[in-house]
Amino acid sequence: MPMTEYNVLEEELSRPSVFKDESKLSIDFLPSKLLYRELELRFLARHLLGLLNLETPKSSNLLVVGGVGIGKTSLAKTFGKMLMESSRKRNIPVKYVHINCRTNNTPYLIFQTIARELSQHVPARGYSTEEIVGVIGDLLRLQQLRLFLVLDEFDFVALRGGTEIIYPLTRIHDANRSGTISTPVSLLLIARSPAFLERMDQSTASSLGHSVLRMRKDSQAQLVDIIQQRVDLAFKDGVVDKEAIRLAADIASELGDARHAIELIWYAGKYADEEQSPYVFPDHVRQAKSSIHPVVRRETIYGLGLHKLVLLLGIVRQLKHSKLAYIKTSDAIQEYKMACEEFMLAPRKHTQLWQYLKELAIFDLIQVKPSGKGYRGKTTFISLPDVSTRQLENELLSLI
Ligand SMILES: Nc1ncnc2c1ncn2[C@@H]1O[C@H](COP(=O)(O)OP(=O)(O)O)[C@@H](O)[C@H]1O
Ligand SMILES: [Mg+2]
Repeated sequence: MPMTEYNVLEEELSRPSVFKDESKLSIDFLPSKLLYRELELRFLARHLLGLLNLETPKSSNLLVVGGVGIGKTSLAKTFGKMLMESSRKRNIPVKYVHINCRTNNTPYLIFQTIARELSQHVPARGYSTEEIVGVIGDLLRLQQLRLFLVLDEFDFVALRGGTEIIYPLTRIHDANRSGTISTPVSLLLIARSPAFLERMDQSTASSLGHSVLRMRKDSQAQLVDIIQQRVDLAFKDGVVDKEAIRLAADIASELGDARHAIELIWYAGKYADEEQSPYVFPDHVRQAKSSIHPVVRRETIYGLGLHKLVLLLGIVRQLKHSKLAYIKTSDAIQEYKMACEEFMLAPRKHTQLWQYLKELAIFDLIQVKPSGKGYRGKTTFISLPDVSTRQLENELLSLI
């Protein structure tokens, strides 16, 4: 076959790029060494080492709190790796289960996921919540396993009143303790804020409340090193200008947010490629900055269900039309209903919408404040962090 004269695919394939391996910039990528987190790792080690006691293993519970992108998940996963390494060395059977509560957002789903991690023979349905906790206990006893359970993004179950799942988990050890068998369950909860502790039953809350690790923010200098670590893995040698790294660290240091720092340099690389620039310069970081807002991140929006997207769209539109900084919830809901009509969706009920609003607030996608003086009754006001409404509207429309 004669060659097509002008093969755009070939042209794209041979287009030069500043990257050598973009996957190293993905948020799920765990670097082999976490920088500047020795203190935090040591804190986890001291609290959780009872799990590896040969004779009398101990359960312990811990809560890690900190903002988005600060490194909570990476910290837990790095510790999980250390724990598995040490348990293997000592021939102690430990199972590490890491559950994201944003996707597994009901007690049943969480228990179900734990059970299925312990045995692939657990059927996908058919058990009640109490039964499945019993199954978990049995599986641990039969395999004489110790469990290290991480419930990541716990805010999402806590928000739905799911905090009662903790108590049965902490009971498994006592129920299984007999003779030589002991199956401790150590729990590491990760959340953005410890606020849910106040809504929990006293004894569980206080057992957790005593061991809270608040993650320290990374400084500008630390963020420079965190970016450099990823740049070395993801970019070709010497293509990223030192000043570009400094600038990205500067911008991200306001929130101490490692994820934002990495995202900035990633997008900067994309802009460099787009311009066919062989180097990444500070100006590319500036372009990246204006295209990503640290709060309104693409992957956060991607994770939202359809109706939450439409509700957010309603809020964005109402803010845009009214030109106000804060809008009334009722107006936002009105706009949501119109959008539902536009997309031929049956609108959700008010109670459900309130739940959605709470979730959007937890994601920091919206800010919510109760009405101050001068308003009759209870009105809640909504605002958006400083992000362009037009940009967000376009993003939402492309997703819906
Ligand atoms: N101390 C660190 N050293 C190296 N990379 C880090 C560090 N802290 C965070 N990161 C990176 O920053 C990104 C965000 O971290 P993550 O653990 O997902 O944050 P969180 O769970 O708090 O939202 C990840 O890509 C992670 O690898
Ligand atoms: Mg996380």
